[in-house]
Amino acid sequence: MVKVLPSLLAGDFLKLGADIKEMEAAGADIFHLDIMDGQFVPNISYGIPVCEAIAKEASIPLDVHLMTYDPTQFVDDFKNMGVDMLSFHIEATPHAHRAVQLIQSKGMKAGIALNPQTSVEAVRHLLSDVDFVLIMTVNPGFGGQGFIDSCVEKLDELVSIRETLTNKFDIEVDGGINGETAEIVKAHGANLLVSGSYLFKADDKAAAISALKE
Ligand code: DX5
Ligand code: ZN
Repeated sequence: MVKVLPSLLAGDFLKLGADIKEMEAAGADIFHLDIMDGQFVPNISYGIPVCEAIAKEASIPLDVHLMTYDPTQFVDDFKNMGVDMLSFHIEATPHAHRAVQLIQSKGMKAGIALNPQTSVEAVRHLLSDVDFVLIMTVNPGFGGQGFIDSCVEKLDELVSIRETLTNKFDIEVDGGINGETAEIVKAHGANLLVSGSYLFKADDKAAAISALKE
């Protein structure tokens, strides 16, 4: 089933509470929270206290996307605030398998994220264990960028590897997702669609969310 995950990075930080309620009323499935450290990516977004405030306000599940080095550093904080899904980048740690185990041991779903430059082969040996794979369709760090078409073939590769496994991980895409690119990624097997600028710029948010799902 296709789910839509608004990225709150595209929200109005002075009225996130209202944005959360509006997106929930419009049919959002899960909120996507982008954590950037200014080191792994050339931007800083927001941190633990803001996530805690979002967690208190939101009534749908939360998906935290760590664009940070040392992805295990704040696992307990995210667990304690009630985060459901936690992903980190394969490029950010030599101990990805250990991080997956740690996240899952805390009762959260663990996801492995891949930058546009990174091939599926780099995470092949994690695919029996992860709950989801996050294919970045832009270079992480900023909202509002254009979709990178060459990332689509990785979705096909993931789908065909998944057919050989008992672990049926979800496939999430993030970056430049709008009505048109959603069609493409769904046709290639993605079922969790993150969308920031497209959804937040839409006048009719319910229609925009349905357009991504249809
Ligand atoms: C980019 C973030 C994305 C971003 C998506 O580094 O990971 O989640 O907010 O924004 P759009 O949909 O505008 O590309
Ligand atoms: Zn993201």
